[in-house]
Amino acid sequence: MSEQTADRSTVLVDRLLAWFDQRDRDVPWRTEADPFAILVAEIMAQQTRIETVRPYYAKFRARFPTVVDLAEADQDEVLRLWEGLGYYARARNLHAAAKAIVAHHGSELPRTAEGLRGLPGVGPYTAGAVASLAFGAVEPAVDGNARRVLSRAFDLENGGPTALDRTARELLHVCPERPGAVNQAIMDLGSEICVPKRPVCDSCPISSVCLALGRGTIALRPARKTRPKKPLRRGAAVIIAKGTDVFVVQRPRNGLLGGLWDFPNVSLPVDEGAPTDAWLEREIESAFGLVVSVGRPIHTIKHTFTHFFFELSVCEAEWRRGEASTSTQWLWAGPSDLQRLAFPVYHRRMIECGLAEPGHHSRPVGTS
Ligand code: ADE
Repeated sequence: MSEQTADRSTVLVDRLLAWFDQRDRDVPWRTEADPFAILVAEIMAQQTRIETVRPYYAKFRARFPTVVDLAEADQDEVLRLWEGLGYYARARNLHAAAKAIVAHHGSELPRTAEGLRGLPGVGPYTAGAVASLAFGAVEPAVDGNARRVLSRAFDLENGGPTALDRTARELLHVCPERPGAVNQAIMDLGSEICVPKRPVCDSCPISSVCLALGRGTIALRPARKTRPKKPLRRGAAVIIAKGTDVFVVQRPRNGLLGGLWDFPNVSLPVDEGAPTDAWLEREIESAFGLVVSVGRPIHTIKHTFTHFFFELSVCEAEWRRGEASTSTQWLWAGPSDLQRLAFPVYHRRMIECGLAEPGHHSRPVGTS
């Protein structure tokens, strides 16, 4: 490290920590000493804003105060508490991590980043965040916000993981007694001031040492990834009624929305019109083994996923005969099952509007 870089790093960390300490942002897990609480929070906060995480974190902590409580829980309950937060693999992995901590680590979290990385779903970010926040380890935690701050502050043209890791470590070594604070100050700066578009450089505590600001390259840092255009996927779903129950299936554990429950649905070609009732009835029979009569359309769901747009036409249907035969879990669900099981948000909205109850197809539903 050159002397100049060392000086810049020292000034940067001093200013950043002064800013961080004086703000005292209300983040619930910052006052927590419990490593398990920090693990839960850091997994929830990936790709998700802290404001969004807040109520989920509170409910999750109240239900699972210890790692043993989570390890012993049923997966349906874990997913139900995660419902709406998205990226459900995080919930399944956190559950698996809790089981591993109980089974192999005496119910205590590993104390090093390397040890933490041995847990299911724990990558470099989470390992660094938990090791630094919970155990004071001098380990970087570079999320998307930190990547932007570091790329700009040091004007990193090719700010790949290695360069970012090295830069973050340099900063941590300025104040090795407070690695959690340094990591969180960088992330906070990225979420509040050094934002992607129109960063508020006038209010930035490190603007005087920001290389990209000095060189006029802020808009170029970090280098943008070009994202492919999102394709459209279409499907048709049926709410099959049998008395007061409706038929629901569990999605495969490892795919999109894995482990959540669904109303049975089939894919539709993108550029064809609405399917006929007869076509849909044949598809449902061949996929789920149930003979049904398709009834009125109920609703068209439009939802944006990370990699595609989704449009799902939902119809009511009546069970006629046949036993369910499908490789996934299924259930004739009554009202309490619909409350207990985890569904994708767009289905939860339909349930809450009464649209998934046999014979109650009235209130409008929002889209997302
Ligand atoms: N994003 C994820 N975890 C965070 C933390 N501990 N502080 C600030 N931003 C975060």
